[in-house]
Amino acid sequence: MAHKFIKWGILAPGKIARKFATELAELENGELFAVGSTSLLRAEEFATTFGAKRYYDSYEALVADPEVDIVYIASPHAFHAEHTLLCLNHQKPVLCEKALGLSLTEVVKMVETARKNNLFFMEAMMVPHQPSYQQAKRIIESGELGKINYIQSWYGFNKSPYDPLGRLMNPALGGGALLDIGLYPLFDIQYFLGEPHRLTATAEFAPTGVDQSISVRLEYPHGITASVFASFVTSAGLGTDIFCEFGTIRLRRLSSLDQWMEVETPQAGVNRYTYKEGECGLKLEALEAMRCLESNRTESDQMPLQASISLMKTLDQIRKLTGINYQGRDKSNL
Ligand SMILES: NC(=O)c1ccc[n+]([C@@H]2O[C@H](COP(=O)([O-])OP(=O)(O)OC[C@H]3O[C@@H](n4cnc5c(N)ncnc54)[C@H](OP(=O)(O)O)[C@@H]3O)[C@@H](O)[C@H]2O)c1
Repeated sequence: MAHKFIKWGILAPGKIARKFATELAELENGELFAVGSTSLLRAEEFATTFGAKRYYDSYEALVADPEVDIVYIASPHAFHAEHTLLCLNHQKPVLCEKALGLSLTEVVKMVETARKNNLFFMEAMMVPHQPSYQQAKRIIESGELGKINYIQSWYGFNKSPYDPLGRLMNPALGGGALLDIGLYPLFDIQYFLGEPHRLTATAEFAPTGVDQSISVRLEYPHGITASVFASFVTSAGLGTDIFCEFGTIRLRRLSSLDQWMEVETPQAGVNRYTYKEGECGLKLEALEAMRCLESNRTESDQMPLQASISLMKTLDQIRKLTGINYQGRDKSNL
Protein backbone atom coordinates (compact mmCIF):
# COMPACT_ATOMS: atom_id res chain seq x y z
CA MET A 1 0.00 0.00 0.00
CA ALA A 2 1.37 3.45 -0.92
CA HIS A 3 2.06 5.61 2.13
CA LYS A 4 0.64 9.09 2.45
CA PHE A 5 3.47 11.60 1.97
CA ILE A 6 3.60 14.00 4.94
CA LYS A 7 4.79 17.61 4.60
CA TRP A 8 6.26 18.90 7.86
CA GLY A 9 6.45 22.48 9.02
CA ILE A 10 8.97 23.47 11.71
CA LEU A 11 8.03 26.32 14.03
CA ALA A 12 11.09 27.94 15.72
CA PRO A 13 14.29 26.67 14.09
CA GLY A 14 16.63 26.43 17.08
CA LYS A 15 19.06 23.72 18.24
CA ILE A 16 16.68 20.80 18.70
CA ALA A 17 14.91 21.67 15.45
CA ARG A 18 18.24 21.09 13.66
CA LYS A 19 18.56 17.62 15.14
CA PHE A 20 14.94 16.87 14.28
CA ALA A 21 15.33 18.06 10.68
CA THR A 22 18.54 16.01 10.29
CA GLU A 23 16.75 12.82 11.37
CA LEU A 24 13.55 13.65 9.46
CA ALA A 25 15.62 13.62 6.27
CA GLU A 26 16.22 9.87 6.83
CA LEU A 27 12.50 9.08 6.53
CA GLU A 28 10.93 8.12 3.23
CA ASN A 29 7.29 9.08 3.59
CA GLY A 30 7.79 12.61 4.86
CA GLU A 31 9.86 15.73 4.30
CA LEU A 32 10.63 19.08 5.84
CA PHE A 33 8.45 21.30 3.66
CA ALA A 34 8.34 24.69 5.39
CA VAL A 35 9.97 26.66 8.23
CA GLY A 36 8.59 29.52 10.30
CA SER A 37 10.86 31.77 12.35
CA THR A 38 10.63 35.20 13.96
CA SER A 39 13.50 36.09 11.62
CA LEU A 40 13.35 35.73 7.83
CA LEU A 41 17.11 35.31 7.72
CA ARG A 42 17.05 32.39 10.18
CA ALA A 43 14.12 30.79 8.36
CA GLU A 44 15.94 31.06 5.01
CA GLU A 45 19.21 29.71 6.40
CA PHE A 46 17.42 26.74 8.00
CA ALA A 47 15.34 26.04 4.87
CA THR A 48 18.47 26.15 2.68
CA THR A 49 20.42 23.85 5.02
CA PHE A 50 17.67 21.24 5.25
CA GLY A 51 16.10 21.59 1.81
CA ALA A 52 12.72 23.00 2.84
CA LYS A 53 10.79 24.43 -0.13
CA ARG A 54 9.19 27.31 1.78
CA TYR A 55 10.19 29.61 4.63
CA TYR A 56 8.35 32.33 6.50
CA ASP A 57 9.22 35.25 8.77
CA SER A 58 6.41 34.47 11.22
CA TYR A 59 4.75 31.49 12.86
CA GLU A 60 1.35 32.83 11.70
CA ALA A 61 2.46 32.60 8.04
CA LEU A 62 3.69 29.02 8.57
CA VAL A 63 0.40 27.80 10.02
CA ALA A 64 -1.54 29.57 7.25
CA ASP A 65 0.24 27.49 4.57
CA PRO A 66 -2.45 25.05 3.35
CA GLU A 67 0.15 22.50 2.19
CA VAL A 68 1.70 21.97 5.64
CA ASP A 69 0.31 18.66 7.03
CA ILE A 70 1.75 18.85 10.56
CA VAL A 71 3.79 21.31 12.61
CA TYR A 72 6.72 20.40 14.87
CA ILE A 73 6.98 23.06 17.61
CA ALA A 74 10.53 23.68 18.87
CA SER A 75 10.26 27.01 20.69
CA PRO A 76 11.21 27.33 24.41
CA HIS A 77 8.63 25.62 26.64
CA ALA A 78 7.25 28.94 27.95
CA PHE A 79 5.66 29.37 24.48
CA HIS A 80 4.53 25.82 23.75
CA ALA A 81 0.93 26.43 24.82
CA GLU A 82 0.62 29.63 22.79
CA HIS A 83 2.22 28.08 19.70
CA THR A 84 0.26 24.83 19.97
CA LEU A 85 -3.02 26.73 20.19
CA LEU A 86 -1.97 28.82 17.18
CA CYS A 87 -1.44 25.65 15.13
CA LEU A 88 -4.55 23.83 16.36
CA ASN A 89 -6.73 26.86 15.73
CA HIS A 90 -5.44 26.81 12.13
CA GLN A 91 -6.38 23.13 11.86
CA LYS A 92 -2.78 21.92 11.94
CA PRO A 93 -1.89 18.68 13.75
CA VAL A 94 0.97 19.18 16.23
CA LEU A 95 4.07 17.41 17.51
CA CYS A 96 5.25 19.69 20.33
CA GLU A 97 8.60 19.56 22.11
CA LYS A 98 8.81 18.85 25.82
CA ALA A 99 8.01 20.23 28.33
CA LEU A 100 4.54 20.37 26.79
CA GLY A 101 3.73 23.48 28.82
CA LEU A 102 4.57 25.26 32.05
CA SER A 103 1.61 23.96 34.05
CA LEU A 104 -1.24 21.48 34.07
CA THR A 105 -3.67 24.32 33.28
CA GLU A 106 -1.82 24.94 30.00
CA VAL A 107 -1.54 21.27 29.07
CA VAL A 108 -5.23 20.56 29.75
CA LYS A 109 -6.21 23.51 27.55
CA MET A 110 -3.94 22.26 24.74
CA VAL A 111 -5.33 18.72 24.95
CA GLU A 112 -8.94 19.97 25.07
CA THR A 113 -8.37 22.14 21.99
CA ALA A 114 -6.81 19.26 20.03
CA ARG A 115 -9.73 16.99 20.94
CA LYS A 116 -12.34 19.65 20.17
CA ASN A 117 -10.79 20.19 16.71
CA ASN A 118 -10.29 16.43 16.20
CA LEU A 119 -6.59 16.96 15.42
CA PHE A 120 -3.53 14.85 16.10
CA PHE A 121 -1.49 16.11 19.06
CA MET A 122 1.53 14.53 20.76
CA GLU A 123 4.34 15.62 23.08
CA ALA A 124 7.73 15.04 21.45
CA MET A 125 8.94 12.71 24.20
CA MET A 126 11.52 10.44 22.67
CA VAL A 127 11.59 7.66 25.25
CA PRO A 128 8.42 5.64 24.60
CA HIS A 129 9.32 5.23 20.92
CA GLN A 130 12.80 3.82 21.58
CA PRO A 131 13.40 0.06 21.20
CA SER A 132 15.31 -0.10 24.51
CA TYR A 133 12.37 1.25 26.52
CA GLN A 134 9.88 -0.89 24.65
CA GLN A 135 12.02 -3.97 25.27
CA ALA A 136 12.43 -3.07 28.97
CA LYS A 137 8.67 -2.70 29.29
CA ARG A 138 8.09 -6.10 27.67
CA ILE A 139 10.55 -7.70 30.11
CA ILE A 140 8.82 -6.07 33.11
CA GLU A 141 5.37 -7.06 31.86
CA SER A 142 6.49 -10.64 31.21
CA GLY A 143 7.09 -10.97 34.96
CA GLU A 144 10.45 -12.73 34.48
CA LEU A 145 12.21 -10.28 36.82
CA GLY A 146 9.32 -10.19 39.32
CA LYS A 147 7.93 -6.90 40.55
CA ILE A 148 9.75 -3.57 40.51
CA ASN A 149 10.82 -2.52 44.02
CA TYR A 150 12.84 0.61 43.29
CA ILE A 151 13.77 2.85 40.33
CA GLN A 152 16.54 5.37 40.33
CA SER A 153 16.73 7.80 37.42
CA TRP A 154 18.87 10.85 36.78
CA TYR A 155 19.97 13.44 34.22
CA GLY A 156 22.78 15.89 34.85
CA PHE A 157 25.35 17.93 32.96
CA ASN A 158 27.59 20.87 33.73
CA LYS A 159 27.98 23.44 30.97
CA SER A 160 28.80 26.36 33.25
CA PRO A 161 29.31 29.26 32.90
CA TYR A 162 25.71 29.64 31.75
CA ASP A 163 24.16 32.59 29.96
CA PRO A 164 21.72 34.05 32.55
CA LEU A 165 19.38 35.12 29.72
CA GLY A 166 19.63 31.80 27.83
CA ARG A 167 16.83 29.25 27.79
CA LEU A 168 18.24 27.06 30.59
CA MET A 169 18.76 29.79 33.20
CA ASN A 170 15.97 32.24 32.33
CA PRO A 171 12.77 31.79 34.39
CA ALA A 172 10.75 33.80 31.84
CA LEU A 173 11.59 31.11 29.24
CA GLY A 174 10.59 28.28 31.62
CA GLY A 175 14.25 27.63 32.48
CA GLY A 176 15.48 25.34 35.25
CA ALA A 177 16.43 21.71 35.69
CA LEU A 178 12.90 20.48 36.43
CA LEU A 179 11.28 21.20 33.07
CA ASP A 180 14.40 21.02 30.96
CA ILE A 181 15.90 17.72 32.11
CA GLY A 182 14.16 16.55 35.33
CA LEU A 183 11.09 15.58 33.39
CA TYR A 184 13.00 12.81 31.60
CA PRO A 185 13.78 10.74 34.72
CA LEU A 186 10.27 11.50 36.02
CA PHE A 187 8.82 10.29 32.73
CA ASP A 188 10.89 7.10 32.91
CA ILE A 189 9.57 6.33 36.38
CA GLN A 190 5.97 7.00 35.38
CA TYR A 191 6.47 4.93 32.19
CA PHE A 192 7.11 1.89 34.37
CA LEU A 193 5.18 2.68 37.58
CA GLY A 194 2.53 5.29 36.75
CA GLU A 195 1.66 8.34 38.87
CA PRO A 196 3.09 8.28 42.41
CA HIS A 197 0.80 8.25 45.43
CA ARG A 198 3.06 10.62 47.34
CA LEU A 199 6.21 12.57 46.68
CA THR A 200 8.73 14.78 48.41
CA ALA A 201 11.10 17.14 46.62
CA THR A 202 13.88 19.63 47.19
CA ALA A 203 15.42 22.16 44.82
CA GLU A 204 18.63 24.19 44.81
CA PHE A 205 18.33 27.54 43.05
CA ALA A 206 20.73 29.41 40.73
CA PRO A 207 21.28 33.19 41.10
CA THR A 208 18.78 33.78 38.25
CA GLY A 209 16.06 32.13 40.37
CA VAL A 210 15.71 28.91 38.37
CA ASP A 211 16.19 25.49 39.96
CA GLN A 212 19.67 24.29 39.04
CA SER A 213 19.30 20.92 40.79
CA ILE A 214 16.31 18.95 42.00
CA SER A 215 15.87 15.75 44.01
CA VAL A 216 12.57 13.92 44.19
CA ARG A 217 11.46 10.83 46.07
CA LEU A 218 8.34 9.10 44.80
CA GLU A 219 6.26 6.61 46.77
CA TYR A 220 3.94 3.89 45.48
CA PRO A 221 1.76 1.29 47.21
CA HIS A 222 3.37 -1.89 48.65
CA GLY A 223 6.59 -0.14 49.63
CA ILE A 224 7.70 0.59 46.05
CA THR A 225 9.80 3.78 45.79
CA ALA A 226 11.72 5.75 43.18
CA SER A 227 14.14 8.64 43.16
CA VAL A 228 15.07 11.34 40.68
CA PHE A 229 18.03 13.66 40.48
CA ALA A 230 18.45 16.33 37.81
CA SER A 231 21.07 19.04 37.67
CA PHE A 232 22.71 21.66 35.48
CA VAL A 233 25.80 21.65 37.73
CA THR A 234 26.55 17.93 37.93
CA SER A 235 28.12 15.80 35.20
CA ALA A 236 25.90 12.81 35.93
CA GLY A 237 24.87 11.68 32.43
CA LEU A 238 21.46 10.17 31.79
CA GLY A 239 20.28 6.85 33.13
CA THR A 240 17.56 4.77 34.69
CA ASP A 241 18.11 1.68 36.84
CA ILE A 242 15.12 -0.56 37.57
CA PHE A 243 15.61 -2.86 40.53
CA CYS A 244 13.27 -5.85 40.51
CA GLU A 245 12.83 -8.91 42.74
CA PHE A 246 14.97 -11.14 40.52
CA GLY A 247 17.17 -8.78 38.55
CA THR A 248 18.02 -5.28 37.37
CA ILE A 249 17.51 -3.37 34.12
CA ARG A 250 19.89 -0.51 33.30
CA LEU A 251 18.92 1.96 30.56
CA ARG A 252 21.38 4.52 29.23
CA ARG A 253 21.16 7.24 26.58
CA LEU A 254 24.52 8.75 25.68
CA SER A 255 22.71 10.70 22.93
CA SER A 256 19.45 10.28 21.05
CA LEU A 257 21.24 7.92 18.63
CA ASP A 258 23.51 6.15 21.12
CA GLN A 259 21.60 4.02 23.60
CA TRP A 260 22.04 0.73 25.41
CA MET A 261 20.29 -1.49 27.91
CA GLU A 262 21.60 -4.14 30.30
CA VAL A 263 19.63 -6.85 32.02
CA GLU A 264 21.40 -8.49 34.96
CA THR A 265 20.28 -11.51 36.95
CA PRO A 266 22.29 -13.68 39.36
CA GLN A 267 21.73 -16.71 37.07
CA ALA A 268 22.44 -15.22 33.63
CA GLY A 269 24.89 -12.44 34.54
CA VAL A 270 24.84 -9.28 32.40
CA ASN A 271 23.14 -9.21 28.98
CA ARG A 272 23.87 -6.02 27.06
CA TYR A 273 21.69 -4.78 24.19
CA THR A 274 22.84 -2.05 21.83
CA TYR A 275 20.86 -0.35 19.07
CA LYS A 276 21.93 0.92 15.67
CA GLU A 277 21.53 4.62 14.85
CA GLY A 278 18.85 3.73 12.30
CA GLU A 279 16.78 2.05 15.03
CA CYS A 280 16.53 4.89 17.53
CA GLY A 281 16.38 8.67 17.90
CA LEU A 282 14.03 11.58 17.35
CA LYS A 283 12.92 10.22 13.96
CA LEU A 284 10.89 7.56 15.78
CA GLU A 285 8.55 10.21 17.22
CA ALA A 286 8.17 11.70 13.72
CA LEU A 287 7.44 8.22 12.37
CA GLU A 288 4.81 7.61 15.04
CA ALA A 289 3.18 10.98 14.25
CA MET A 290 3.09 10.08 10.54
CA ARG A 291 1.61 6.62 11.29
CA CYS A 292 -1.14 8.33 13.31
CA LEU A 293 -1.88 10.85 10.54
CA GLU A 294 -1.99 8.09 7.95
CA SER A 295 -4.48 6.06 9.95
CA ASN A 296 -6.53 9.14 10.96
CA ARG A 297 -5.66 8.72 14.65
CA THR A 298 -5.62 11.89 16.71
CA GLU A 299 -3.59 10.35 19.53
CA SER A 300 -0.61 8.01 19.79
CA ASP A 301 -0.81 4.73 21.74
CA GLN A 302 2.93 4.96 22.37
CA MET A 303 2.79 8.49 23.84
CA PRO A 304 -0.86 9.07 24.83
CA LEU A 305 -2.01 12.50 25.93
CA GLN A 306 -2.86 11.05 29.34
CA ALA A 307 0.88 10.36 29.84
CA SER A 308 1.60 14.06 29.22
CA ILE A 309 -1.17 15.08 31.61
CA SER A 310 0.10 12.67 34.31
CA LEU A 311 3.65 13.93 33.89
CA MET A 312 2.57 17.56 34.15
CA LYS A 313 0.53 16.78 37.29
CA THR A 314 3.72 15.47 38.93
CA LEU A 315 5.76 18.44 37.68
CA ASP A 316 3.14 20.84 39.12
CA GLN A 317 3.30 19.07 42.48
CA ILE A 318 7.10 19.31 42.57
CA ARG A 319 6.93 22.98 41.59
CA LYS A 320 4.55 23.70 44.47
CA LEU A 321 6.61 21.72 47.01
CA THR A 322 9.88 23.43 46.08
CA GLY A 323 8.72 26.96 45.23
CA ILE A 324 9.87 26.79 41.60
CA ASN A 325 8.08 29.46 39.55
CA TYR A 326 8.31 30.98 36.09
CA GLN A 327 7.77 34.62 36.98
CA GLY A 328 4.01 34.13 36.99
CA ARG A 329 3.85 32.69 33.45
CA ASP A 330 2.87 29.29 34.84
CA LYS A 331 -0.30 30.86 36.27
CA SER A 332 -1.39 32.09 32.85
CA ASN A 333 -5.00 31.52 31.92
CA LEU A 334 -4.98 30.85 28.22
N1 LIG B 1 13.49 16.41 22.85
C1 LIG B 1 14.74 16.73 23.11
O1 LIG B 1 15.64 15.90 23.13
C2 LIG B 1 15.04 18.16 23.39
C3 LIG B 1 16.34 18.55 23.47
C4 LIG B 1 16.60 19.88 23.65
C5 LIG B 1 15.55 20.76 23.78
N2 LIG B 1 14.27 20.34 23.74
C6 LIG B 1 13.14 21.26 23.89
O2 LIG B 1 13.00 22.00 22.68
C7 LIG B 1 12.67 23.36 22.96
C8 LIG B 1 13.67 24.26 22.28
O3 LIG B 1 14.96 24.03 22.77
P1 LIG B 1 16.28 24.49 21.97
O4 LIG B 1 17.41 24.04 22.79
O5 LIG B 1 16.19 24.06 20.56
O6 LIG B 1 16.13 26.08 22.09
P2 LIG B 1 16.84 27.21 21.23
O7 LIG B 1 18.00 26.68 20.48
O8 LIG B 1 17.01 28.35 22.15
O9 LIG B 1 15.74 27.56 20.11
C9 LIG B 1 14.48 27.99 20.43
C10 LIG B 1 13.93 28.75 19.22
O10 LIG B 1 12.66 29.27 19.63
C11 LIG B 1 12.41 30.51 19.00
N3 LIG B 1 11.95 31.51 19.97
C12 LIG B 1 10.76 32.13 19.93
N4 LIG B 1 10.62 33.00 20.94
C13 LIG B 1 11.76 32.94 21.63
C14 LIG B 1 12.23 33.65 22.77
N5 LIG B 1 11.51 34.58 23.39
N6 LIG B 1 13.46 33.36 23.22
C15 LIG B 1 14.21 32.43 22.61
N7 LIG B 1 13.81 31.73 21.52
C16 LIG B 1 12.60 32.01 21.03
C17 LIG B 1 13.71 30.93 18.30
O11 LIG B 1 13.51 30.68 16.92
P3 LIG B 1 13.09 31.85 15.92
O12 LIG B 1 13.18 33.17 16.66
O13 LIG B 1 14.06 31.73 14.82
O14 LIG B 1 11.69 31.54 15.52
C18 LIG B 1 14.76 29.94 18.82
O15 LIG B 1 15.69 29.57 17.85
C19 LIG B 1 12.63 23.49 24.49
O16 LIG B 1 11.32 23.42 24.94
C20 LIG B 1 13.42 22.28 24.98
O17 LIG B 1 12.98 21.80 26.23
C21 LIG B 1 14.01 19.07 23.53
